[in-house]
Amino acid sequence: MNGKYNASKLALSLIKDEMTIGIGSGSTVEVFLNLLGEKIRNERLRIYGIPSSYQAMLVGLRNGIILTDLAERQPDICIDGADQVDSQLNCIKGGGAALTREKILAHASEKVFILVDESKLVEKLSMPVPIEVLPFAYGYVFKKLSSICKPKLREGKGKVGPLITDNGNFIIDCDFGVLSDPEAIEAELNSIAGIVENGVFTSELIDAVIVGSDSSAKFRKPEFR
Ligand code: A5P
Repeated sequence: MNGKYNASKLALSLIKDEMTIGIGSGSTVEVFLNLLGEKIRNERLRIYGIPSSYQAMLVGLRNGIILTDLAERQPDICIDGADQVDSQLNCIKGGGAALTREKILAHASEKVFILVDESKLVEKLSMPVPIEVLPFAYGYVFKKLSSICKPKLREGKGKVGPLITDNGNFIIDCDFGVLSDPEAIEAELNSIAGIVENGVFTSELIDAVIVGSDSSAKFRKPEFR
């Protein structure tokens, strides 16, 4: 928990009055938003936010963020978490099924910061890649995926049957083993008709990963920045 807190504390220093934030999803983002809420109250800031999920929307509202959308504002900064981060700062996201809007927000934002605790760091990405799929295309996509990975339809919790994303779609978790070329896999997945988006976020998209440990946090930037 301290790692998430320390990463969030450091990220807070990036936020200035009147900024618009692309708000990612997950427990780390929630820690960040709770700290931001305190800052908004103490310093009487006006902070705008474009949420990537209903979770982000509700936590943002609770913390005094003024909700907006991409038709109205361009995010100055995107703050998000990740499920795995490799040594090159490529990430896998989508453990919370919010990957599609998260990726759109990352592309639309001036700067992108990923907040993680040390437990998310790996040498090579290896967890199953979450893929958002249009329900209409499920059968076709599952068959296509079966030739390149081990696909598994994600089940819902608190409901029977598949998990339904905030966009009304399914999630297939696709096990490739170790991802030797994340960029190629991202492109290959998105070339399959019916796949809306996938959870590989390559380091080109990211300005810095903020890694929090029990005692501190630091910025890690991709080598080319
Ligand atoms: C949401 O779909 C994900 O991309 C999250 O950003 C990711 O799962 C990180 O979540 P935690 O901060 O809860 O680990």
